[in-house]
Amino acid sequence: MAKGHLNFYCWMKTKNTYQKLFSPQSIAIVGASNKKGKIGTIIAENISKLGYKGKTYLINPAYKFLGFKRCYPSLSAVKKEIDVAIICVPAKFVLGVVKEGMQNVKNFVIISAGFSEIGAEGAKREQELIALAKKNNLNILGPNCLGFINPIVNLNASFAAGMPKAGNVAFVSQSGALIVGLLDKAKEEHMGFSNVISIGNQMQVDEADILEYLAEDKETKVIGMYLEGIKDGSRFLKVAKKVSQKKPIVILKAGKTEQAQKAISSHTGALAGSDEIVDVAFKSAGIIRADNLDDFFALLGLISFTDAPKNGQMAVITNAGGAGVLATDAFKNKEIALMEFSQKAKENFAKQLPSESSVHNPIDLLGDAGADRYQNILEMLKKENPGSTICILTPQQQTPVEEIAKIITSVKEKNKMSLAAVFIGGERIKNGVLHLKQNNIPNFSNPESCVRALDQYYRWSIFANEKTDEQKYAANADCKKIVSNIIKNAREQKRGALSFSEAANVMLEYGIDSGSFWIVSADGEKPEIKEFPVVAKIDSDKVLHKSDKQGVILNIKNSGELEEALKALGQNFPGEKVLVQPMQQKQVEIILGIKKDDIFGPVIVYGLGGIYTEIFHMADFLLPPMSEAEIKKQVLSGKIRFLFQGARGQKAYDAEEFSKIIKGIMDFALENSDIDGFDINPLFIYNDGRKASAVDIKIII
Ligand code: COA
Repeated sequence: MAKGHLNFYCWMKTKNTYQKLFSPQSIAIVGASNKKGKIGTIIAENISKLGYKGKTYLINPAYKFLGFKRCYPSLSAVKKEIDVAIICVPAKFVLGVVKEGMQNVKNFVIISAGFSEIGAEGAKREQELIALAKKNNLNILGPNCLGFINPIVNLNASFAAGMPKAGNVAFVSQSGALIVGLLDKAKEEHMGFSNVISIGNQMQVDEADILEYLAEDKETKVIGMYLEGIKDGSRFLKVAKKVSQKKPIVILKAGKTEQAQKAISSHTGALAGSDEIVDVAFKSAGIIRADNLDDFFALLGLISFTDAPKNGQMAVITNAGGAGVLATDAFKNKEIALMEFSQKAKENFAKQLPSESSVHNPIDLLGDAGADRYQNILEMLKKENPGSTICILTPQQQTPVEEIAKIITSVKEKNKMSLAAVFIGGERIKNGVLHLKQNNIPNFSNPESCVRALDQYYRWSIFANEKTDEQKYAANADCKKIVSNIIKNAREQKRGALSFSEAANVMLEYGIDSGSFWIVSADGEKPEIKEFPVVAKIDSDKVLHKSDKQGVILNIKNSGELEEALKALGQNFPGEKVLVQPMQQKQVEIILGIKKDDIFGPVIVYGLGGIYTEIFHMADFLLPPMSEAEIKKQVLSGKIRFLFQGARGQKAYDAEEFSKIIKGIMDFALENSDIDGFDINPLFIYNDGRKASAVDIKIII
C-alpha cells in the first residue's frame, strides 16, 4: 500500500483489530538476529521454522541478509502494510522504532523490559508510548512480555520453545516465565491451545481487551488467566461478566499475602487487590477462581475436555470403597450433590453386580471389578441422567487399568456423557491415564479435586444461564443534589465529618431510618420528651469515638436525669451539641460500612456487630451495583444468613428490609465516591415487627 494511502487508515478498536494482532497475515521482527541465544534470534526462528504461513519481515540495520532471508533496515523500509511488529531491541530504542514504523504498522508487541516495572525512568517511557499509541490508534501488547503464540496458524511469536498442540484453551498471563512452565506441563496433559498471550505490563492492551477478543474467538472454549494485578477493576468486571455468559474464565490470581503483593509491585508494576474482595468480585462476574497452579490446570483440563454438568446431580462409580468415601466427603458444602438413584435403577445395578457391591451412590463395583462392571453400570447410568459421572479406580492386582480407560472413553463417546476420571496411583495407572488424556477424558489424582472442579464448572454454568440484571443502578438526581449540598456545607465549615442529624438526613434520602431524635445544647431549650428511657450523646465531628470519651450517657429515666446528663456533657464538651435518642432495646446489632478498594472501588461490608464483631469475623462483602434481589440472595447465603433463616426456633429477621438498607448504602456509595469513610454501627434489627434503626452513623468527608 502506498504511504499516502496509509494516512487515511481508519483504525478502531474492534474485534478485527486484535484479529490482526493475534492472527496476522504478515509479521515483522525488529531486532531479528542470527547470534545464538539472543531473543531476536529465537523469535525470528520460532516464526520462520514452526510452520507459520504468513509473510515474515526481518528488521535490523546491521544486516542486508539473515541466512538467505532479506533483512530491512527499518519497518518503513518494507514499504508495505504489516499486520504486527514484534520488537526486541533495548527499551531506550523502542519509542523510536514505533514512531518510525507506525505509518505501515498499527499493531506492536514489545518484548523489551525496562518500562514501568523498573521505576520512574521506565514509567516515563511507557507514558510516551501510551501517548503515541492514543494519538495514532496503535495497539501495543506488552512491554516486558514474552510475546504470543497462535497454534491454530502455527505462529509462535514469542521466545518460548516449540509449538504447543492446537486446541480450545486460551491462556493469558502477566508472567512470561509461567507461560513457559505451563506449556511444558500442558504437553504431558495433552492440553491444546487456541491462543497463548503474554500481556506483560499491560500498558495499553489490557486483560479486559484480551477477554473481549477471546470471547469472540471461535477456537476458544475456555479462557485461563494468570493475573497479578488488575488495571481497571470495574471495567474488568463488566467485561468479565459479559464474557462469562459466553464461555468460562478461569483465573489464577496471585497476591494473596502482603509479601506477595510487594513482590508483584516489583514484578510488573501492577496493583494487587485485597484478596477477600477479589474473591467477591470474581464471584460477581462468574469467574472461576483457581487456588493454585494444580487447580488451575485441573480446571482448564476439565473444561477443555468436557461439557459442564447438565445438572447438579452427580453419579460416582468406584472399585475402591475408601475412595468412594473420600468422594462422598468432598460433596460437603458444594452446589453439586450425590444423586439419589431410582429404585428401578438400583435393582438393575444389583442384577449386574456381585451381592457384596453397593448400588447406592457411590456405586461400589468392588476391588476385583473388571472392565465389564464399569461398562454395564456406565451404560445403565445414562437413563438416570446424572449431571456428570465420576469414575474412580485404584489398580488392584487384577484391575485391567487400560481396558477400563478404553471402556470409559468409548462409553463417553457413544453416549455423549459428561465424565471425569479419578485414577489413583502411579506407575500402574500411567498408561490408562495416558489413554484417558489422549481421548479427552480429564483425570484427577484425587476425588476432592475432581468434585471441587466439577462444582466450580457447574456453578459457572448456572451463572451463564442466568439472566443478568443490567438495569441495577439509576442515579436519583434530586437525592444526589440534597446530599451533596449537605456535604458541601460541612466541608465549607472545615468539618471532617457530618453531624448525626446531617448523617441521619443523608441516610433518609437513601431510605434508611435512624428513628426519632432531638438535637440540643447544654444551655439551650430542653426537648419535651414524653417517653423514657433515653440516651444523650455528644454530636460532634471532633468526637468520633464517643463512648471511649464519656460522650454517651445511657438509660436516662426521667427529665431530672436528662437535665443532669446534659449538664455533665456540657461541662465535658463545652459548646458541643447533644443528641438525645430513645434508648432502644437491643436485639441484634449489625455493622455496615463502605470499604474503598484500590482496584474495584467502593465495597459494602456488613456483618454481626457488637462486642463480638472482631472475634467472630462474621462479615461479608458486596460489590455495587447490585439489584435488591441479588443483594437478598447474597444475604441469604452469606455469613449471617442464620439471622434471616430463623435459626434455632427464632423468628427470622426481615431479609427484605435488610437488603433494602444495603441497597441504599450501595447507592449512597456510588453517588458519593469522594467521601473518606462511612459506617453505621450499630444498626439494630428486630424480628418482632419493629423497624430497623441506624443508631449511630459516621460519614467522614
Ligand atoms: N531496529 C532494528 N534492530 C535494531 C535496532 C533498531 N532500531 N537497534 C538495535 N537493533 C538490533 C541490534 O543490532 C541487535 O542485533 P544483533 O543481535 O544482531 O547485534 C538487536 O537489535 C538486539 O539489540 P541488542 O542491543 O543486542 O539487545 P539484546 O538482544 O541484548 O537485548 C532485549 C534486547 C529486548 C532482549 C533486552 O533489551 C530485553 O529487554 N531483555 C529482557 C526481555 C524480557 O525479559 N522480556 C519479558 C519477558 S516475560
